[in-house]
Amino acid sequence: MADSDGWAARRTLVLRAEEPGAIERAAAILHGGGLVAFPTETVYGLGADATSAAAAEGIFQAKQRPHSDPLIVHLAAADELGHVAHAVPALAWQLAARFWPGPLTLVLPRAEAIPAVVTAGGETVGVRVPAHPVARALIAAAGVPVAAPSANRFMHTSPTTAAHVLADLDGRIDCLLDGGPCTVGVESTVLDITASPPRILRPGGVTLEALRAVAPDIEGPLELPPPRASGEDRGGEQAAARAPGQMPRHYAPHTRLLVFDAAGERGLAAVRAAAAAARGERVGALLPDEEAAALEAARPGNVVMVARLGPVGDLAQHSRRLYAALRELDAAGLDVILAHTFGRKGLGLALEDRLRRAAGGHFQRVI
Ligand code: TXA
Ligand code: MG
Repeated sequence: MADSDGWAARRTLVLRAEEPGAIERAAAILHGGGLVAFPTETVYGLGADATSAAAAEGIFQAKQRPHSDPLIVHLAAADELGHVAHAVPALAWQLAARFWPGPLTLVLPRAEAIPAVVTAGGETVGVRVPAHPVARALIAAAGVPVAAPSANRFMHTSPTTAAHVLADLDGRIDCLLDGGPCTVGVESTVLDITASPPRILRPGGVTLEALRAVAPDIEGPLELPPPRASGEDRGGEQAAARAPGQMPRHYAPHTRLLVFDAAGERGLAAVRAAAAAARGERVGALLPDEEAAALEAARPGNVVMVARLGPVGDLAQHSRRLYAALRELDAAGLDVILAHTFGRKGLGLALEDRLRRAAGGHFQRVI
């Protein structure tokens, strides 16, 4: 059997992590060079032995991911860092002591043991110790560092449940370890500490404020190029070549997503106005609970679905819900999904980054 891109289907073994022996079976598949999707506290990862070029190559095939986008190497414990990176600076150990296990990826000089396919040919490697107990047990049992991107098809919305992984990758990977929904919901913060001062390449689960409490000179992420007025996005691959993995369009639902860059009442007002203007279209919205209730109370006829992100101001819950809510809206046969941002404090920065990229060219400033 082959699917639309000619991929020969294989059977994906689905294991519940709490079943006796499940982690050992998944670890044996990883150890043998297979592909195993597993839960982390951020999103599900698609794992392969990071010391095997052939195993890591399988990740790129399954995800249809370009080789210009490097993979994060996951360890069971910080003391294994010396196996995958070298010339580890004191700051890396300080950050590891404070934030590992947890959603922080450190970019460091690569050690010989990590093949070029994992680092996209570069001399640095991204490393993290995930906090999820299933991830740590799996990596420890496999006995190898595990390269793992998010377990979605390239550019699509990241998976925060086992069902999301199957929707994208069933028949393309050897095993899926189901450990329930992810608790953080947005990916790790990627911090380049080979740069001086260190710079965030991707905002994520560890906030800029928390990082600056350890190292005050850490720089926030570079501004993305302004969105195209035409709403088209042709620059993805070019941008990937300039800054690995930092595509302007990413995490995207299939449905058109229009994001207004304004928090709170101003954001809701922009969503409301856009819903009213989209007459004749099937409109969906992605909003905090109270704003969702306010929009529904106004009964705009063409708003057919409102996905809720949790209580207003609870950015941790917004993050946890974001990708699942986008997938729910994407399955509802809508013409357009409307959303807004949540400021840049704390997790607001990561939420803005994901919403902006998911919207591609449809990210609009509100004046
Ligand atoms: O939370 C996460 O980080 C999840 C879970 C599974 O750990 N993983 C994840 O992987 O989000 P992925 O491949 O979807 O995103 C990894 C990001 C990409 O933007 C990639 O470009 C960047 O990390 N990255 C990895 N290695 C890098 C390196 N050596 N230099 C610069 N960026 C790197
Ligand atoms: Mg990803």
